[in-house]
Amino acid sequence: MHTASVGVSKLCFLLSVALCCLLLLLIPALQPPPQVDRPQPRPQVRPGQSRPAEVSAGAYSPGKRPSPLKLSGGSVNEGELVRAKPTQAAKTGPFPRSRPLDKLELKDIFIAVKTTRKYHKSRLELLIQTWVSRAKEQTFIFSDGDDKDLQQRTGVNLINTNCSAAHTRQALCCKMSVEYDKFIESQRKWFCHVDDDNYVILPSLLRLLSSYHHSQDVYLGRPSLDHTIEAAERVKSDGSVSVKFWFATGGAGFCISRGLALKMSPWASLGNFISTAEKIRLPDDCTIGYIIEALLEVRLTHTHLFHSHLENLQKLPVDTALDQVTLSYGGFENRRNVVGIGGFSLSEDPTRFMSVHCLLYPETEWCPKAQAGDRS
Ligand SMILES: *[C@@H]1O[C@H](CO)[C@@H](O)[C@H](O)[C@H]1NC(C)=O
Repeated sequence: MHTASVGVSKLCFLLSVALCCLLLLLIPALQPPPQVDRPQPRPQVRPGQSRPAEVSAGAYSPGKRPSPLKLSGGSVNEGELVRAKPTQAAKTGPFPRSRPLDKLELKDIFIAVKTTRKYHKSRLELLIQTWVSRAKEQTFIFSDGDDKDLQQRTGVNLINTNCSAAHTRQALCCKMSVEYDKFIESQRKWFCHVDDDNYVILPSLLRLLSSYHHSQDVYLGRPSLDHTIEAAERVKSDGSVSVKFWFATGGAGFCISRGLALKMSPWASLGNFISTAEKIRLPDDCTIGYIIEALLEVRLTHTHLFHSHLENLQKLPVDTALDQVTLSYGGFENRRNVVGIGGFSLSEDPTRFMSVHCLLYPETEWCPKAQAGDRS
């Protein structure tokens, strides 16, 4: 009995030593590969590639969030900041030389145009005549009323959001909410939002988005302020703390990758966008920035290829105008705030959009044939 138990103890001892050795040998094999749990690299940090944000917004240092302090300091005011950049893009070329990672086609992009019933004639018709005619399938016009005549005559996708036609924060957020849901439904790779006073230079848009991948977290646009915005954090906390974030101004247009848009869903889909905006009491474009920068902690990629009527458009160098992604024109209060592009007379083409269009697509039937090649 006694000798047997000693034998058993010895056996146990030997067995546990053997087990320990086996475990020691197995440790490296059991460890997970170090990269498995890491989040996907940000689009900005793909090795061996320069970033559009870096190139077009030369003032920002690579890999770092542009410092709001640095930018708002000194004598730089918003107007100067806004018009200082395109020249930089002109010198270096606005796009990085990069291998095409994602063979992106125009049909992969969902372009949302926000408008309102009273601008169907004065603003929308011009867009439909110009750039929208080149991207009818992927352009979706979000309005607040039906227009069967326009739809039948031009064949555009017009969506009645049933939102109020008032130019209020609530009405604008209501439209953005519908835009978001329609994009998610569309299965397309990129969501781009523009206003009804934007000209979208489609080849430039395609080139810009082609340098990213739609499955990564990409939020591209132009800040309308030279500093971050601060809001009380009422979504993740009780509002006693505040958050600072950048947002892309809606009036210049902005784009969001599908990967990022899907992550926004808890705060943006099926009417959640409206309640998020209500919580922080900010307009639609700020709310987009809030969800992406403050809640998802993804950075806005600042680009100066997007232009709104808030900047001095005459300062945009004419030789780089066609490299931009969006252009705009001054409202009725500032009729002369337009890009200085030649072509049609100012009375024929007060917005310059027709002239831009004929430079891009001289074969268009209403473009002057003889001058198509030599206009500057
Ligand atoms: C707006 O209302 C109409 C009629 O009730 C409906 O068919 C349509 O789907 C609504 N639009 C949206 C975007 O919900």
